[in-house]
Amino acid sequence: MKYSSIKGMSDIMPSEISAWQKLESTALEVFGLYGYLEIRTPIVEKTDLFVRGIGSNTMVVEKEMYSFKDISDDMLSLRPEGTASVIRAYIESGAYQAEGIAKYVYIGPMFRRERPQKGRYRQFHQIGVEAIGLSDPLIDAEQIAMGDFFFKKLGLSDFTTEINSLGCKKCRPEYNKVFGEFLKTKHARLCADCQRRILTNPLRAFDCKNPDCIAAIKEAPLIGSHLCKECSDHFLSVQKRLNQLGTKFVVNHKIVRGLDYYMRTAFEYTTDKLGSQNAIAGGGRYDGLVHDLGGPNLPGVGFAIGMERVIMLMQASNLAAAAESDMVFFALLGETAREKAIPVINSLRQDGIKIELDYDGHSLKSQMRRADKMAAHTVVIIGDEEVAKGKAVIRNMRTKEQEEVNIGDLARHFVRIEV
Ligand code: HAM
Repeated sequence: MKYSSIKGMSDIMPSEISAWQKLESTALEVFGLYGYLEIRTPIVEKTDLFVRGIGSNTMVVEKEMYSFKDISDDMLSLRPEGTASVIRAYIESGAYQAEGIAKYVYIGPMFRRERPQKGRYRQFHQIGVEAIGLSDPLIDAEQIAMGDFFFKKLGLSDFTTEINSLGCKKCRPEYNKVFGEFLKTKHARLCADCQRRILTNPLRAFDCKNPDCIAAIKEAPLIGSHLCKECSDHFLSVQKRLNQLGTKFVVNHKIVRGLDYYMRTAFEYTTDKLGSQNAIAGGGRYDGLVHDLGGPNLPGVGFAIGMERVIMLMQASNLAAAAESDMVFFALLGETAREKAIPVINSLRQDGIKIELDYDGHSLKSQMRRADKMAAHTVVIIGDEEVAKGKAVIRNMRTKEQEEVNIGDLARHFVRIEV
């Protein structure tokens, strides 16, 4: 039986890993500058956490969760996103009792049973941030600017920062009514999902990718002109702060987000380089979520980056090249050479030098091929002849120059790194 990975779930092989590591280390570095601390939560949670957190009328909860009963009949789900889990951990740990804002960054796999296509997978990875405890629009703007800076730091420029306000409990229902009435006038032109949305959640129609629906709602009334005074002031302040921070953005009143916990600020970073899955990151404000999940009434704002999509964008911009190898290869010819080399290799590794070696007694030619394949910068050759003289040959793989040194002096030929 030959096994393959589950549809929509991929391996990340060593040849691809350097782009992932670059993404992760840049995120921890950049978000660390803004005070975000790393948090790691379990991949499995109680299903109810996501139903309450994300909303039972969302596609994610209705159709896309991997849920199962475990042996003690608990209903569990693989996490489809990170926000609900982070808020659960924040409440459960009592972190809310500390004064001031809490800022978290997390990296990891998420699971949604969507129809796989380019940029859309069933296991995908996110880097997310959450800032809990502040309603001031400064934090919304600071976070949006931070995401923008992060993408630029990676070297990306093919993206747009789009923002919207989704209103609040006061003004959104009013707008939903107006928009719902509009949708009714287009009923016949809408897909079955959007027809259903008229009753459940009209706003979601803006997320529909069906060309007929997009055309039908082109002239729809937008939320921008239906915000209450508080939401409108908040949104204007976010924009003022973004200008102050020098972050370019566009206002797009059709950004509605697919999860129910958002209110006021919503934002996405989009690109036209990846086809229909064009959001490389998205998020917004979720005042009320901490309370809904059993905590105190505290506001929050966050966003998450889709790592696969960012890596695709890095590849399209030639920013995902593999890092140059810093590996030394030991080509060992014969048993005596191997006996002599093993303790030397051990002590060099403990000095911080990366070493791969031939374990199988292959020919020199085949060992050199392997060294080439792993892009070793140096090969150390030790054969019986060298052992007899207490010597090793060092070959620089770039210049092809060779020199003979005493085996005991090998360490001095490599950069020593303290470990
Ligand atoms: P989201 O918009 O569902 O938000 O996901 C954020 C990003 O994850 C998307 O913009 C996209 O890049 C990526 N993504 C989502 N689904 C997939 C998929 N099936 N395949 C590949 N990439 C995908 C959230 O998840 C919120 N928790 C973000 C947030 C944090 N809001 C507040 N705090």
